[in-house]
Amino acid sequence: MSLPDGIKSISELLGAQALVWNHIFNFINSMSLKCAIQLGLPDIIHGHGRPMTLSDLTGALPINKAKQSCLDRLMCILVHSKFFVKVNISEEEEGYWLTPASRLLLTNEPLSVAPFALAMLDPILIDPWHHMGEWFQNDDPTPFVTTHGKTFWEYAGREPRMNHFFNKAMASDARLVTNILTKHCKHVFEGLKSMVDVGGGTGAIAKLIGDVFLEMKCIVLELPHVVVGLEGTNNLTFVGGDMFQSIPPADAIFMKWILHDWPDHECVKILEKCKEAIPSKEKGGKVIIIDMVVDDMFKEDDKATETQLFFDMLMMTLASGRERSEKEWAKLFFAAGFSSYKIIPMIGLRSLIEVLP
Ligand SMILES: C[S@@+](CC[C@H](N)C(=O)[O-])C[C@H]1O[C@@H](n2cnc3c(N)ncnc32)[C@H](O)[C@@H]1O
Repeated sequence: MSLPDGIKSISELLGAQALVWNHIFNFINSMSLKCAIQLGLPDIIHGHGRPMTLSDLTGALPINKAKQSCLDRLMCILVHSKFFVKVNISEEEEGYWLTPASRLLLTNEPLSVAPFALAMLDPILIDPWHHMGEWFQNDDPTPFVTTHGKTFWEYAGREPRMNHFFNKAMASDARLVTNILTKHCKHVFEGLKSMVDVGGGTGAIAKLIGDVFLEMKCIVLELPHVVVGLEGTNNLTFVGGDMFQSIPPADAIFMKWILHDWPDHECVKILEKCKEAIPSKEKGGKVIIIDMVVDDMFKEDDKATETQLFFDMLMMTLASGRERSEKEWAKLFFAAGFSSYKIIPMIGLRSLIEVLP
């Protein structure tokens, strides 16, 4: 049999097949990670205090002990994907130990990303990926709508389990980002007497910023189902509302992971509302944005680029938003009447953007 058109050799044929197989089964990495979190693997190994043999691990985990050889295979893929390492305990025995990535999955780690992982891998958020092809052929705004019949925010408002896991996921990311912000970007917040965290979830960022800047009054503006029943403090207030209608006045507006949820025309509306809420540039008014600024140029085989592309697809699938390049951000800021902006690429794959009226 001859080689398919455009394929020059057997090794090219097998390379192509390997690439397709790898992509077909990429989801097994995600699902093995989910399983590790659900079983509490990082917590059990951490609690043991030293590398754990397979039989110790089987004994300590809440699993059917007859499945030890299957656990061995799960650990094998998790070692391969760098969530655990295998180390020598003695001449005869090897044990599993934590890596920086699995330390970020510990339940008691204040900067844990486990709630984010579990939310993103929940069937409610995974199902829309099965409908992407169908969505390309219909008029729905997102595959999420094609799957669930409602927008992401409407669905979260009606499904308490999703509201809970999503808010918990956002709060976990907020803690990690604020930890970095208050160490490396403190100057951005200095001198502000008031700040509104628009779409600020259950207030994780506003609380942590308020604890560092005691003179600052923080307001979290959120959809009513997110903030119902939440109690403020002496410098933190929760307001149920809609950022498209009005934003309370303050020296600064803070928005983390808001604008990437929305298409350009909606972003311009939100930014216009922000501009109405803050004082002039001379009086210190500003908008502080935490979001990705993606490269215009792809770097092949670069994990950071791939992760940014994943986020762009995620925004398309769940929320009709997108990730943006500097040029695309600038267009939005000027369309909403802002005069200048400054990008501080501080937070891993994300940046802080200061936008001035
Ligand atoms: C991706 S989450 C980001 C949460 C938080 N800023 C963070 O990064 O931790 C987007 C947030 O925007 C809120 N949101 C959506 N539509 C909104 C609206 N019209 N007015 C106010 N908040 C809104 C959602 O409830 C959600 O909490």
